[in-house]
Amino acid sequence: MTKLQIFLEIATEAALAGGQVLQEYLGKLEDAIIEKQRPGDLVTAADKASEVVILEILRRHFPEHSILAEESGKLGNQENEYLWAIDPLDGTTNYAHQYPFFAVSIGLLINGVPQVGVIYDPFHNELFRAAQDLGATLNRRPIKVSQTSELSKSLLVSGFAYDRRETSDNNYAEFCHLTHLTQGVRRSGSASLDLAHVACGRLDGYWERGLSPWDITAGVILLQEAGGKVSAYDNTPLKIESGRILATNGYIHNSLSQELQNIPPLSSYISKSLRDG
Ligand code: IPD
Ligand code: CA
Ligand code: CA
Ligand code: CA
Repeated sequence: MTKLQIFLEIATEAALAGGQVLQEYLGKLEDAIIEKQRPGDLVTAADKASEVVILEILRRHFPEHSILAEESGKLGNQENEYLWAIDPLDGTTNYAHQYPFFAVSIGLLINGVPQVGVIYDPFHNELFRAAQDLGATLNRRPIKVSQTSELSKSLLVSGFAYDRRETSDNNYAEFCHLTHLTQGVRRSGSASLDLAHVACGRLDGYWERGLSPWDITAGVILLQEAGGKVSAYDNTPLKIESGRILATNGYIHNSLSQELQNIPPLSSYISKSLRDG
């Protein structure tokens, strides 16, 4: 086995273990749900318990690697050649409401570049995996992106960060504009699954701001290996730490990038619909 294959196997073991914890806690949280710094930004006993089992497995196999995990923060030198970006429960709000759309996301950055990714949706038992040049799979079968090439025929997904009440850069205008231009825009509540579903062709594109490396590292390599494209909104190379991503099947990438750079104010839609109505 190559190094990447070993990393992929261990990341899979960790994601499955984390997913099992999530399934065990589902619907049994009672008062084990608390708000973090902002209203609506939840953390539960399941987030923490999932992270504990993931960290135990990764540290046992790779004690020399560093980690960036949502609930534990930075562990080890973040400039390390090998940095694991871990989201033990992506979709906490869904999970807390027992809305079955959440995942474990484990990605490995090698010298800052996403090279291994595992996203596990335990409720639907869907395991997405990829590693650089080894392809992307869903439950061990190869996946690829959709071939939709027109925005007007596409189904997109996006999301809203927890700081949305505090900033006007909150994605509301973008969401509205693209809802007008496409067959629809979904808001699933799990960034890693959004990327996974673009990778397997269920969705055609995704954009979002206010993200963290643990939300997208695994999804980026998964989508690239499935034939998709990632970038900044303006189509320049993606910077994982920027928190802003445009991710598509490749075919609608340029059009979506252009639209994201020319978003009309929200007010124009409200007055237009009143006029039209
Ligand atoms: C959140 C989800 C959501 C996205 C938020 C993320 P969490 O992660 O991925 O889809 O819109 O920005 O923070 O907190 O559920 O792990
Ligand atoms: Ca997340
Ligand atoms: Ca999380
Ligand atoms: Ca969170």
